Amino acid sequence: EETIRILAIETSCDETSAAVVENGTRILSNVISSQIDLHKKFGGVVPELASRKHMEKMDPVIQEALEQAGTTFRDLDAVAVTYGPGLVGALLVGVSEAKAMAYAMGKPLIGIHHIEGHISANYIEHPDLKPPFLCLVVSGGHTHLVHVKDYGHYGVIGKTRDDAIGEAFDKVARAIGLGYPGGPAIDRIAREGNPDAIRFPRAFMEDGPYDFSFSGVKSAVLNYLNQAKMRGETVVVADVAASFQKAAVEVLVKKTMKAAKNHGFDTIALAGGVAANSWLRESLGAACKEAGIGFHHPSMLFCTDNAAMIGTAAYHAYRQGVRHGLDLNAVPDLKL
Ligand code: KG4
Ligand code: ZN
Repeated sequence: EETIRILAIETSCDETSAAVVENGTRILSNVISSQIDLHKKFGGVVPELASRKHMEKMDPVIQEALEQAGTTFRDLDAVAVTYGPGLVGALLVGVSEAKAMAYAMGKPLIGIHHIEGHISANYIEHPDLKPPFLCLVVSGGHTHLVHVKDYGHYGVIGKTRDDAIGEAFDKVARAIGLGYPGGPAIDRIAREGNPDAIRFPRAFMEDGPYDFSFSGVKSAVLNYLNQAKMRGETVVVADVAASFQKAAVEVLVKKTMKAAKNHGFDTIALAGGVAANSWLRESLGAACKEAGIGFHHPSMLFCTDNAAMIGTAAYHAYRQGVRHGLDLNAVPDLKL
């Protein structure tokens, strides 16, 4: 079999990442430079600072990815890059870099959709997983139920109408004083709390059975905290975290299982940063087991933003003949 080696670049949000991926599943390197410390003091990602940091880190991160992989530019078959959705200034750093490299080396350029990258993270460790399947994509920017019809072919079955699930985790975490990014902190502290301590609302919309809404549960948590403060009551942070997490995850699991049953899927995959959440993994895994449905999720490292997942997606795109011109631009609201 022919060996396809792809250099992949990801700069859509606050991680500068480069990876060298062989045939979609062999991760020769996956270098991730996180900007968490930079944005922490602001309680969230500051776009302007993110772009500047990407500019600073892009070259060294690529150098390191090539070194770790023991590859030079010459050994590469293509350069792949996330071109949307994301922060436009952040995306532009990666896109410009990839274009310059593809041009200088005379290699094909492949633009990848960020969500396609997250979905493709599942292929890295599950070579048996092949489309079609249902994928729940949960991250800081997205909450999508996606019908993965084939590599590169997707149908959006449902999505959030307001906040993304990760955004809700981050905002709740901030309100209960857990800092940024809040998802992992809630996950951790919730293990010591009672998930049935407080009944937060679950949003099920009649006009969109597979759509999500998380602004309601987020507001309910904020109201709960304000009222407790006004009454001078002490708040048990672990209970709030566990109860919020249970409410949010319950909606995700119910809607995903409903979509799987009604559309006849026999396999469900989980993707995106929030796929690292232990309560979600366990709940969805248990629901799938009960329904006799196959369940896959990437390991932690491949859940949050990384370039390896972009390299995996790009391998399948490469084989399908996807090539982009040097007019490739960053598209902050790119549709799947
Ligand atoms: O995929 P990602 O790295 O970036 C986007 O594409 O948005 O996802 C980041 C999001 C953040 O909101 C973060 O709080 C959340 O994923 N996250 C988690 C966990 N780990 C990361 N949320 C809940 N539980 C976790 N263990
Ligand atoms: Zn992401």
